[in-house]
Amino acid sequence: MIPDRATLTACLAVAFLSSPGSAQVGAPAGPVPAELLQERRVRVMEAAAGAPVVLGSSRLRDLEREYPQDSDFRQSNDFFYLTGLETPDAWLVLNLPTPGSEGLYLEPRDPAQELWTGEKLGPGSEARARSGLADVRSSDRLVTDVTGWLGQLEAPAVYIDPGDPAHVDRLGEALGEARGTARQLGPTLAELRMIKDRDELRRLREAVRITTEAHQEAWRAAGAGMHEYEVEALIEYVFRSRGAERVGFPSIVGSAENSVTLHYDKNRRMLQDGDLVVVDIGAEFGYYTADLTRTFPVSGQFTDRQRAVYELVLSAQEAALAEVRPGATVGRLEQAARRYMREHSGDLCGGESCAAYFPHGISHWLGMDVHDVGNYGTTLAPGMVLTIEPGIYLPDESLGVRIEDNVLVTEDGYELLSGSLPRRPEEVERIMSEAPRIWSVAGKGS
Ligand code: GLY
Ligand code: MN
Ligand code: MN
Repeated sequence: MIPDRATLTACLAVAFLSSPGSAQVGAPAGPVPAELLQERRVRVMEAAAGAPVVLGSSRLRDLEREYPQDSDFRQSNDFFYLTGLETPDAWLVLNLPTPGSEGLYLEPRDPAQELWTGEKLGPGSEARARSGLADVRSSDRLVTDVTGWLGQLEAPAVYIDPGDPAHVDRLGEALGEARGTARQLGPTLAELRMIKDRDELRRLREAVRITTEAHQEAWRAAGAGMHEYEVEALIEYVFRSRGAERVGFPSIVGSAENSVTLHYDKNRRMLQDGDLVVVDIGAEFGYYTADLTRTFPVSGQFTDRQRAVYELVLSAQEAALAEVRPGATVGRLEQAARRYMREHSGDLCGGESCAAYFPHGISHWLGMDVHDVGNYGTTLAPGMVLTIEPGIYLPDESLGVRIEDNVLVTEDGYELLSGSLPRRPEEVERIMSEAPRIWSVAGKGS
């Protein structure tokens, strides 16, 4: 029994009005608006057609056994998408038979643990205010409650996602026999997460803006004698200092022979004049990541050969971009880029088309994951965000070029979210000639 939207809105309005809207206390991205969280949960309840939904969060990793790094806890994407909460070991249950439609289960507070890791949200009025969920209970009750509800259902179909593998045992106990008929929640949520709402787009735009700034500062600062890791450090300084809380994936700074390794992230080599450098990076802002690649020459000037390969990659990217509109498929974009390379390679890649040296896909969905959830057979629709990223990699010449941009599908085509990051080779050269604004190394800038 799915509550209609009006009833649900009325039920939850009291909780929202009293909410300080601080689900992510102090986070640079701010909280996800409670009304959007509610809309997302309503869509999940509708998609589940009244069947109970049980969704677990992430958990804290153990300092001594699991080697957490940095500010390690990151909420599971699906849990954050539906609750905006960064609380570990929590459970969201939707489509409850009684008493309301949705409930949140939190671990009871533990002062001894909080001495080490700080205050943690526990069951109580503060949790209700922060989450916008009216029914917040202690997770001690989870097994009993869920078992009771399943017993009331004629056909105990459930959608489950334990959130973290360590939660599976607990979930198994709660679901008992119903587990055999449980449906996976992942594909349902993936379909919803493919269309970004206004708060998701706000986060993505800022992630892209920060990443764009980092690329350009890397161009200004880079020069022969600098190591790949120094470029990485500068990039990640820009990320963190602009409010990105982590990288969306390991930063790739690959020069010369490393430029042909697609996901190279050791970043140890020293840059030399004559090298090309592939920089594939993404700031994560408020759980949403950018994914932008540019390729630049260490000397500040492309050689004729490097420029020719670069121009072919850029034109292939334009060919794919020209196909982006509602109703198209990623397959069609891929064909357009490869067709362009086949028809315009000349003898650039020896006897073969340069398409033979483009070994990866043209695109993937982008969002909370860098390779975001979603079926690749899906036709494009307004609100979807994807990358367009052709490349040519010639190992015999230690010459790799990749250009990657982030695109929002609109009603009548697309918006290039990363349109402010230059792609033309002469624009890259011009920015490289500028003095670094943030960080200078010997022989470069002031
Ligand atoms: N940055 C990873 C990718 O482009 O797939
Ligand atoms: Mn990508
Ligand atoms: Mn990338």
